[in-house]
Amino acid sequence: MAKLTGLKKIKTAVFISGTGSNLNNLIKFSKIKNSPVSIDLIFSNTPKAKGLRFSNQFNIKKYISSFKDTKIAEAKILNLLNKENIKFICLAGFMRILSKSFIKNFNGKIVNMHPSLLPKYKGLDTHIKAIKNKDKVAGCTVHFVTEKLDSGKIILQKEVKISKKDTATSLAKKVLKQEHKLYPAAIKKIFN
Ligand code: GRF
Repeated sequence: MAKLTGLKKIKTAVFISGTGSNLNNLIKFSKIKNSPVSIDLIFSNTPKAKGLRFSNQFNIKKYISSFKDTKIAEAKILNLLNKENIKFICLAGFMRILSKSFIKNFNGKIVNMHPSLLPKYKGLDTHIKAIKNKDKVAGCTVHFVTEKLDSGKIILQKEVKISKKDTATSLAKKVLKQEHKLYPAAIKKIFN
């Protein structure tokens, strides 16, 4: 990945489908002077994503397109990303799978936050699986996105202890708190 040169921040889009706490956190991080990225576009595959409210709050462009037809949606998004000169994409609770050709277009420039210690528990319901398996630790991973789901090169990971009292919900809360620290740290690691 090209190093950050000069003072210009890398124009970044965040893709969401839900609450957007990671989005909110990334926006706040982007405003810090030595952040390598600026968040210039929010994309959601659904108008119901609560995180879309951060578009108004922070005056950031938003774009919504259903993924019913992935090809059409991705063509529209690519067009917009090019128009807006977006160079980097952060997936943050984005619940759709991007096609091979989309990923190729942004080769090595898409990262994702996954709520497990990859390669353990790819896909959904990571916290339920960890509790069911009586794991002692859970965690989160920021990784590059490749065509194989949740399998790209790992940038950073953070462990979270699972206590006997933890439920999938309490564990998700604990992990989310660490996600908010890990995502900015991973972006710094990539660019600085
Ligand atoms: C996070 O747990 C993230 O790891 C997963 O989806 C959740 C999104 O949370 N991919 P939020 O929308 O950022 O609050």
